Amino acid sequence: MFVTMLGVGNGFSDGVYNNNALLECDGQRTLIDCGVTAWESLSQLGLRMESIERIFITHLHFDHAGGLEAAALYSKYFSHKKLQLIVPAPLRKAVWENLLKGGLWNPEGGCTALEDYFDVAAPAEGERFALCGGAQAVWFPTRHIPGKFSCGLLAEGQFAYTSDMQCDLPLAERLLDAGVKVLFHDCQIGPASVHASYDTLLTYPQAVREKLLLMHHGLLVPPSSGPLRFACQHERMDLDAPADEYDDIEENDLIRRTIAYMKKRQKEEPTGHDWLHTERVYRMAMRLARESSRQPDLVTVALGALLHDIDDWKFNDGNEAAGPQAAASWLRSCGAPEALIQQIQAIIRDLSFKGMGEIKKMQTAEGEIVQDADRLDAIGAIGIARAFATGAAFGNGLLDPDLPPRDALRREGYANRKVPSTTVNHFYEKLLHLEALMNTPEAKAEAAARHRFMLAYLQRLYQECGMTEGVHQRLLEEYCRS
Ligand SMILES: [Fe+2]
Repeated sequence: MFVTMLGVGNGFSDGVYNNNALLECDGQRTLIDCGVTAWESLSQLGLRMESIERIFITHLHFDHAGGLEAAALYSKYFSHKKLQLIVPAPLRKAVWENLLKGGLWNPEGGCTALEDYFDVAAPAEGERFALCGGAQAVWFPTRHIPGKFSCGLLAEGQFAYTSDMQCDLPLAERLLDAGVKVLFHDCQIGPASVHASYDTLLTYPQAVREKLLLMHHGLLVPPSSGPLRFACQHERMDLDAPADEYDDIEENDLIRRTIAYMKKRQKEEPTGHDWLHTERVYRMAMRLARESSRQPDLVTVALGALLHDIDDWKFNDGNEAAGPQAAASWLRSCGAPEALIQQIQAIIRDLSFKGMGEIKKMQTAEGEIVQDADRLDAIGAIGIARAFATGAAFGNGLLDPDLPPRDALRREGYANRKVPSTTVNHFYEKLLHLEALMNTPEAKAEAAARHRFMLAYLQRLYQECGMTEGVHQRLLEEYCRS
């Protein structure tokens, strides 16, 4: 089962969406809560309403249920696909009478009840219901606003989810006794009356703290998060993955030595091809590998990711043999087997983007994963930062309204440094093509979100720079339409 927090904010947090979650299991998708920002957040992930089967509501505040009216109207009049709505029995009446009836009451259109919009289930406390795919769940009452119903969710054998609630250690302990892998827990930094205070959570016994994953905290978390973990908005968590995805692979001596070697080698790199880039690619590649159904060899993925930018051709006068050679001599010096060395060399050789006219298919599942991880680091917020750093290193300007992008289809156009270009042109020459080039479904989902972020960034940039008329804007509109 995968869990993605659609947001980690309270109803008023700047910069993050409402505290709602997306579950994926056995090809189905379920929302836990559907606040006013849920649909926008899903859209950021490249998902539309019709990709959701079911919605579970924990209580009726706007940041948890304010998106239900949009769901009802969209499914009735646009997607023509009825969503399942699971409301705890005590909320069954109120969700229609107190929340939705005002906007959805339409006798002439034949819509006078919640069932006219949703397939409704209203389980009683302790009654099991289908949550997502084969996963079963029950809800349990929580203390949030005195006198007002709210509940959390226990997904059997998987996780528990408090939604909004005050600290309640006995309840947390009971949930952990039920054998959950993680307890998604409300958290408020600073004074908290109807939410769980971060300071109080810090006092919980270690056995409880270890299982907590805090949410609702907003954009900012304490500088040192100490023993408590904070959920990140839009991070897709695999609840079936081993508790720590990296520890066991780093017990491999060759990988440990390669990490230390590349850390030193890429330390001073100023163009965004530094050790932190390699580390992100390595971590992303390991995540994609664990999520993959193709059972890739983890050592090959790890080494391919760690060594992928060793002597990059872009920084070696276009010498494409430099990287594979440097990787081979390092691996040989460590006594790595020849077959492994050749696999890593092939990954490095085929990985790099050399223009849309020269798209090479990676030869192995491991290569596809490393290539996806590297390409993900070239797009989204980090991709934008790296593009400007690399552009500056090559002497390119930021942007020039009169200089159109080079022809992305021709390698001479893309790789020829003598043809002038700018970093903003680089979006059209490379970055906006990468989403479509992802190999694995896991990377495609992440790439869609990063791609949208870049389009929004360019729109804003053109507004600020007076470039809303011209070749760049026209190209951008084409991307936004496609
Ligand atoms: Fe890279």
